[in-house]
Amino acid sequence: MKFFIDSADISEIKEAQALGILDGVTTNPSLVAKSGQPFDEVAKSICSVVQGPVNLEVISTNWEEMVAEARGLRKYGGNVVVKVPMTADGLKAVKQLHEQHIPTNVTLIFQPIQALLAAKAGATYVSPFVGRLDDISQDGMELARDIITIYRHYDVKTNVLVASVRNPVHILEAAKMGADVVTVPLKVIQQLMKHPLTEAGLKTFLDDWKKVKV
Ligand code: E4P
Repeated sequence: MKFFIDSADISEIKEAQALGILDGVTTNPSLVAKSGQPFDEVAKSICSVVQGPVNLEVISTNWEEMVAEARGLRKYGGNVVVKVPMTADGLKAVKQLHEQHIPTNVTLIFQPIQALLAAKAGATYVSPFVGRLDDISQDGMELARDIITIYRHYDVKTNVLVASVRNPVHILEAAKMGADVVTVPLKVIQQLMKHPLTEAGLKTFLDDWKKVKV
């Protein structure tokens, strides 16, 4: 399973990179706004340090404008994946971009058939937003599981990218069901490596080391 960081903050991206676990980055307009930096600077700085896929989102709502915007986003790097919302215009844009060999990530997926439509249009990735479903008392991981089941039935090659991750259990579940990618905020990445028995065990080793005769 690939790990992307869900962030437009270059210091967070570098921190995840230093851990040796980073395969790519997802951003969205809200994350770019949170960074406080102009979009052009954000996109340039991420693309200058990340070799893997960098997901940058269009803000147009009409398919012709999305396609034009996508071409502009690809100027930041050959590794840019164009995020397109799950709308009728989004699907038309994905079809066009697929024909032009431009990779896409269909975002804001909340039901499995949306993911099937995105795959048929030629999406490279689909992003089910699991946390936002949990937030409204629906089982977000069930959405991811259903998409994976449907894709397996029809040997669909589109990658399932589990998004809107809120906690380590989402990531464990994603790995168990065979998701292709998870995109994770730095705060949750940092939770993944911790276990109270690891911390207690290390403390004991270091305390005992003080008793070793030198
Ligand atoms: C995915 O690409 C999105 O940027 C992201 O996962 C949305 O997460 P949120 O629901 O925490 O905003």
